[in-house]
Amino acid sequence: MKALLLMLTLAATLAAGIVLAQERRLELKDGPGRAKVEANCASCHSLDYIQANSPFMNRQVWDAEVTKMIKAFGAPIAEADAKEIVDYLSNNYGAP
Ligand code: HEC
Repeated sequence: MKALLLMLTLAATLAAGIVLAQERRLELKDGPGRAKVEANCASCHSLDYIQANSPFMNRQVWDAEVTKMIKAFGAPIAEADAKEIVDYLSNNYGAP
C-alpha cells in the first residue's frame, strides 16, 4: 500500500513538472512591443491566451480585448503601453 502511494506521488510530481516545463516554453514571436506584452499580460494568466485567440483577432478586436483587461479586470497598463501592445498583437497575432 505504501509503495502504491509513493508511486502515485511520484507520478503526480512528474506530471506537474511537465506542465511547468510547457508553461515556460511558450515564447511569443519576436518584435517591437514583445517585452511590454510579456511584462503586462502574464501576471494574471498564461500568455497562451494570446496564441489561442489569435485566429479570431484583428486590430479592432485586440484593441477591445486589451481595453477589457484594463477596464473590466483591472490590469494596470498605461495608455501608451496599451497602444504598443495592441500594435504588437495585431501585427503578430492578428487575423488578416
Ligand atoms: C488584471 C489581470 C489581467 C491582466 C493583467 C491581463 N488579463 Fe487577460 N484576462 C484576465 C481575466 C480575468 C480573463 C478571463 C478569465 C479567464 O479566462 O482567465 C482574461 C482573459 C483573456 C483572454 C481570453 C479571452 C477573454 O476575453 O476571456 C485574452 C485573449 C487575454 N486575457 C489577453 C490579455 C492580454 C493581451 C493582456 C495584456 C494586455 C492581458 N490579458 C492582461 C485578466 C487579466
